[in-house]
Formats: sequence, C-alpha cells, structure tokens
Amino acid sequence: MRIAVCCTNTKVEPWLEGLRAALPGAVVSLVDPASAGFDAVAEADYAVVWSPPQAFIDSQHSLKAIFNIGAGVDALMQLKLPKGVPVVRLDDAGMSVQMAEYVCHAVIRHFREFDSHESDAAEGRWTYRKSSRRADFTVGVMGLGVLGRRVCQALAQFDYPVLGWSRSPKVLDGVQCFSGSAGFQDFLSSTRVLVCLLPLTPETEDIMCRDTLSQLQPGGYVINVARGRHLVDEDLLTLIDSGHLAGATLDVFRTEPLPVTHPFCRHPKITLTPHMSARTLRDDSIAQIAGKLRALEAGAALSSLAGVVNLNQGY
Ligand code: NAP
Ligand code: GLV
Repeated sequence: MRIAVCCTNTKVEPWLEGLRAALPGAVVSLVDPASAGFDAVAEADYAVVWSPPQAFIDSQHSLKAIFNIGAGVDALMQLKLPKGVPVVRLDDAGMSVQMAEYVCHAVIRHFREFDSHESDAAEGRWTYRKSSRRADFTVGVMGLGVLGRRVCQALAQFDYPVLGWSRSPKVLDGVQCFSGSAGFQDFLSSTRVLVCLLPLTPETEDIMCRDTLSQLQPGGYVINVARGRHLVDEDLLTLIDSGHLAGATLDVFRTEPLPVTHPFCRHPKITLTPHMSARTLRDDSIAQIAGKLRALEAGAALSSLAGVVNLNQGY
C-alpha cells in the first residue's frame, strides 16, 4: 500500500513515523505542500492530508481514498477532488472529550461569573453576586454530530437545560431536539447560550448573524468552536455593544492567527483562544486511520467505516 502524506501547518515527520510503525508493509511518503512542482510526486493509493494544495490532488490519479486529519473537511471541499474517490474524516479520535471540556468550561465560567470574581479578587473586593437561575440558562447546541452530542451530554450533567439543533431530526436523552429550518426559530428563541458545532458548508456559512443572534434570549452568549466563517464578526460586536448579548467565547476566526488589530482582541466581553478547543491527537488519529486502511485493504466495504464524508452535503 502506498500512502502520500501532504499536510499544511502540521509537523509532519511524527505522522510519517507513526504511520510507518502502524502499517509496516506500507510505503509512506512525504509530499511537501509548499513544493514548487508536483510533477515528480509518486502515485499513491491513499492520501493523508490537511488542507493540501490543489496541485497535490491533481498529481494523484490512483487514489482509493483521501484521509483528512481533522474533523472538519471544509478546506478539502474547496478543492476539485477526483470523482468517485471517498473522503474520510477523523471520527472523534479523542476530540469529543476535549470539546465537551472546553464548552463546559466556557459555560460554567460565564454562568458562575468567574471573570468578575477574578477581577474583584485582584482588586481586594469581597463581593457576593446574585446568582443566575440555572433553569434560565438554556444552552443551545447547533450541530448534533460526533462533537455536538458529547457536548450536550456533558452540559446536561450540570443540569443546564440543553437544546440541540441539526439538519435531520434526532432523539437524544435529556436534550430537547429541533431540526431543519422549521425548527430553527424556536431553537434560537429558547436559547440563552449558543454553541456552534456545525460543519462549514454553503448552508451554514454566516449562520450567526444579526438576524439569528438577535433572536437569542436577552443576555445571550455565543460560543463558537466550529469555524470562523460561521460568524459575522461585525454583527456579534454590534449586539454585544448594544447590550443584547452578554459576550462570547471564540476559538475560531475568519483569519487565523487572528490579526492583533482585530476588534475582538482585548474586547472586555470576548474571550479568545487560538483554535485549540479540540486538537487532533496524533497517536489516536494515526491508530484510527491505520485501522481503517487495514480494513479497506482487507476488503471491508467503505460504508462500514465511520467518518466517510457525504460529498453532496459537504460534511
Ligand atoms: P459531524 O459529526 O459531521 O456533525 C455535524 C452536525 O451538524 C450534524 O448533526 C449535522 O446534522 C449538523 N448540520 C450540518 N449541516 C446542517 C445544517 N445546514 N443545518 C442544521 N444542522 C446541520 O461533525 P463533528 O465531528 O461533530 O464536527 C463538527 C465541526 O466542528 C467540524 O466540521 C469542524 O468544523 C469543527 N471542529 C472544530 C474544532 C476546533 O478545535 N475548534 C475541532 C474539531 C472540529 P445531521 O446530524 O442531521 O447530519
Ligand atoms: C479542527 O478544527 C478540525 O476540524 O479537526
């Protein structure tokens, strides 16, 4: 089996070593995404990629599948992919627990007003605050996939009322589920803290805009852990500055790294992190990809693998 690894913004050597160790019979080659030319790149059976250039994809004519070393495939979906070649994304691989941890942290930090307590303590003030009612702190999660479902379960453990919204109808224990455009308004108007865990597709781009965010309950809060292009930055700022929204925790941005001149930077009501809410865990991911490659080579049907992307839906 021949595997070509072509990943931008990734320290790639450990991936090569890991794949070689997990698949001793395989020929695993590195393709430099910044290469000046791809003419000499050897044909591979499988590609392991993160945001590869179109020229790499064009250099490959024998691919049986493309493995994405992240959960989101939006960068790949921008490319012209060879017809009939399946794309397989990471299916959890240690990300859902990180995402649950991150979102619970952000919700709890906001609900229990840890920022205010921290600044009181720093200034030597001993202040009791009237606590919010948990029953009023409805958390609405957009996207009930691998990550969204785990986040909902974790939030429900703290007794927050949890709502979920997805494209197709779902039934989840302890979660009030809404679906499709018919269920969107009711979902938004019942939500106080909005969490975005949608894939970025033409349908979901700019989904958090003035129109949708103004439908959140007064004092609403936004947690974006999916992609920067889900959020219209100016609309979020307007609604925070007008007082309709209480603030936001943002892990993803339209431009990454976020330019230091962006108005989000140093905004007192916005907490920023550098796209770290759920990192790709290399060892877990290599084990998952190697397991799928072994299964495919042993004749398993593609449909038996978790994480095969529906190329028509774009996720
Ligand atoms: P997933 O399993 O594919 O789940 C996607 C969910 O979104 C599904 O419930 C799907 O509905 C729903 N959805 C898609 N399009 C929709 C639409 N138009 N309207 C309503 N619901 C829609 O994806 P995942 O593994 O949970 O990952 C979600 C996203 O998180 C990734 O795509 C990526 O962008 C982001 N992510 C971010 C980080 C980070 O560190 N910040 C890390 C990993 C992933 P159905 O269930 O009906 O299909
Ligand atoms: C990270 O953002 C991912 O999509 O895995």
